[in-house]
Amino acid sequence: MKKHILLCISLALLTSCGSDESDPVAYVPTPAQIDTPLIFQQLLPAAVIPEDNPLTEEGIALGKRLFYDTRLSLDNSISCASCHKPQEGFSDNNAVSLGVDGTPGTRNSMPLANLAFNYFGNFNWDGSATTLEEQHEIPITSSIEMHNTFADITTMISADASYPLQFEQAFNVTTVTKTEVTKALAQFVRTMVSGNSKFDKYLLGEATLTPQEQNGLDVFLDETRGDCFHCHGSPTNPLWTDNIFHNNGLDTSFEDRGRGNITGDPNHFGQFKSPSLRNLAYTAPYMHDGRFATLEEVVNHYSEGLVYSDTIDPLMKSIAQGGVHLTENDKQDLIAFLLSLSDPTFINNPAFLPN
Ligand code: HEC
Ligand code: HEC
Repeated sequence: MKKHILLCISLALLTSCGSDESDPVAYVPTPAQIDTPLIFQQLLPAAVIPEDNPLTEEGIALGKRLFYDTRLSLDNSISCASCHKPQEGFSDNNAVSLGVDGTPGTRNSMPLANLAFNYFGNFNWDGSATTLEEQHEIPITSSIEMHNTFADITTMISADASYPLQFEQAFNVTTVTKTEVTKALAQFVRTMVSGNSKFDKYLLGEATLTPQEQNGLDVFLDETRGDCFHCHGSPTNPLWTDNIFHNNGLDTSFEDRGRGNITGDPNHFGQFKSPSLRNLAYTAPYMHDGRFATLEEVVNHYSEGLVYSDTIDPLMKSIAQGGVHLTENDKQDLIAFLLSLSDPTFINNPAFLPN
């Protein structure tokens, strides 16, 4: 602060620093960092923070306010949190999300966690966005989501009693545009990190698995039983996803072409991003279209429900047998293990809840 004042004094002769009529607030944002769980520090590269949008306390607080503000939608009815509810793992319990006027979308809301550790920049089920800043523009303007325009949003912001000051403190701007709105949201979303499940504690030697959970982990890793780890991570990949696109044998033909919609390549039809298996206790229903209401249904799919299509992933090695054919015991144990990846401290963390 002192330095800034001195600088202003010495620049005062040359510029109008500090003597503007509008009396601008000093731009001194407080640098912030992601609270990276120990297990991530041990196993993962650092979070991805774009150079042009460093984290600041002011930016994160503003992003959180925007995330919970229903005025971002056309009729002031929904906020980001309407489809990304804390108690539902920052996803929602509808098969497909409902936008303004209850308009149904076509896909299941994705849980928001650990997105700063998505090193490939594959966002959405089909990778239609490559940065979070870019992603956040989509729901705001999409006709099946918030159905708004940035012109309306920036008008609302400039008429608000405190947003203009908050934007000035976070980004040093007096005219707010789409860029600052999406940057603030992205800062907040990057801080949403989940790394404190029972399984994380087990890896740190702070918890023990039940015999059921231990067998479930073995099933998950065993290529002759569940064989899940190729796409969904393992104890050395605490994101519990590879963050790339696969066809996991749900359909013979595709109403939603998934990755193929983006690339236009028929080899990508029916491919979707592997979702993280963290926080499944809160994020039902499952799959890109929410077709499975329970984890039992998901496990039955992999066990005996696989169907063939031209783009089925080569890692779905059991396709010739229609699935991995798990015993009843192994199915139940696999589910017990999957649930050990859920993190109640994440969904209850005041840093991510409305103020
Ligand atoms: C109407 C419901 C709805 C609203 C409102 C909504 N989202 Fe989403 N969100 C979704 C759905 C559905 C997807 C998956 C989209 C797809 O794959 O096409 C998604 C995907 C995402 C993703 C990608 C996650 C990943 O793993 O790749 C992020 C990030 C996200 N939303 C953030 C936001 C933010 C920030 C807002 C507010 C500006 C918001 N969403 C508003 C339903 C919604
Ligand atoms: C070839 C890669 C691959 C393998 C192997 C695989 N999955 Fe998946 N999994 C995916 C993809 C891709 C999706 C999303 C598919 C969609 O929605 O169209 C998915 C979705 C899921 C979901 C739904 C999560 C959500 O949030 O909607 C669960 C749970 C799941 N898989 C568990 C498993 C288990 C358990 C195994 C082993 C028995 C397994 N997967 C094997 C790729 C794979």
